[in-house]
Amino acid sequence: MKITVVGGGYVGLVSGACFAHLGHEVLIVEKLKEKLELLKEGKSPIYEPGLDELLEEGIKGKRLHFTDSLKEAADFSEVLFICVGTPSLADGSPDLSQVDQVVRDVARRMNSYKVFVEKSTVPVNTHKRIEGVVRRYLKDKSLEFDVVSNPEFLKEGAAVDDFLNPDRIVVGVSSQRAKEIMEEIYRPLVEKGAPLFITDPASAEIIKHAANAFLATKISFINMVSDLCEATGANVDAVADGLGFDKRIGRAFLNAGIGWGGSCFPKDLKAFVKIAEEFAVDFSLLKEVERINERRIELLMKKLKDALWTLRSKRIALWGLSFKPNTDDIREAPSIKVVQRLLKEGATVSAYDPKATDNFRRLFVEGEDLRYAKDKYEALKDAEALLILTEWQEFKEADLTKVKELMEVPIIVDGRNIYDPDEVKAMGFEYYSIGR
Ligand code: UGA
Repeated sequence: MKITVVGGGYVGLVSGACFAHLGHEVLIVEKLKEKLELLKEGKSPIYEPGLDELLEEGIKGKRLHFTDSLKEAADFSEVLFICVGTPSLADGSPDLSQVDQVVRDVARRMNSYKVFVEKSTVPVNTHKRIEGVVRRYLKDKSLEFDVVSNPEFLKEGAAVDDFLNPDRIVVGVSSQRAKEIMEEIYRPLVEKGAPLFITDPASAEIIKHAANAFLATKISFINMVSDLCEATGANVDAVADGLGFDKRIGRAFLNAGIGWGGSCFPKDLKAFVKIAEEFAVDFSLLKEVERINERRIELLMKKLKDALWTLRSKRIALWGLSFKPNTDDIREAPSIKVVQRLLKEGATVSAYDPKATDNFRRLFVEGEDLRYAKDKYEALKDAEALLILTEWQEFKEADLTKVKELMEVPIIVDGRNIYDPDEVKAMGFEYYSIGR
């Protein structure tokens, strides 16, 4: 099938490349010139495992095309996946102006049936807004169209795999015609066993926000449990394992640490609370989930300070800048607040991340008090403490004997519980982790 994907960002790119991999012919619209040029050469502007290979495969197989022309895109297929950004406004609600713009532009040019598929995360009932906008701008009022909600559940760092092996595909439709088109698009995945859950558009929109809100709640919950474990001498890893055996709870997203970040949870939680407020529903539970998350950085800083007494002029090695492993994304990453705090308190930081350093450099310019190391060992030279903020595999596999030799003082404050406390302590480290 022919598919248009509007927006070559994270979601659009992964979805478009995966649709092409499934055998569809895909046109991705990207307005930013620099990005478009990269994409045409088959180069991904973001680091995402497996994506480069899919881009190359799609381009070589002539199933993946790129353009900056929305007109070309609107004519290309009857299905348009809207994957543009929906960033937070100051009041927490999402800015839907890019969605509105795309819908208006396509509606003005429409001369045949179209399906508008919301893939960007949007508040409940956005499909009604889109319907209204299309009706308003349509020149030929007799033309038919459908609006479908098809939220994405891709995790950064595992997005390609999540797309091709989904737990479920959620499609919110209100017409048989659109339903059949969506079934045809996802047929290759459904044939491999992926559950396709068809529902109404409003429910699909809520499923997306509720899923992220629930996962964030799970993390904040285990983080509170970790505080209790720490206060009582219990071990949060053991508690999470014990809880996880219960199928109703599950072990996933019960890793205690310095909290959730990224481009999704913080934005989506705020948006969900905002929607609830608009409908006079008091969802204060989620406000508490956010508050718990904000306090995680304080907790980490307190651990570091308790260990070092004062941070002024202390050399701190920092491992991990991305908001989670296997991505170069630093949006709402705990590292941002931690580095701000360290610099404010007069520490000297030597930071290393396998992929996110270039992005971080744009926020924090290298200087006397902040250096970016080329590898994890270089960051450790003469350090008086090592702070671990992201659980990259290469940190888990680090040669701890070498780590100890390189540091002036062997103190590790591990915000992601990547080492066995008994083992590192036996090696002579002073080791602080979360809830153990
Ligand atoms: C999240 C959801 O997991 C996806 O299903 C969803 O599609 C996506 O948002 C989105 O809305 O686009 P993502 O933000 O890529 O995906 O990352 P997650 O793997 O969910 O992690 C989010 C944050 O939670 C990270 O900072 C991570 O370190 C933290 N986390 C995760 C924990 O602190 N503990 C855990 O047990 C799991």
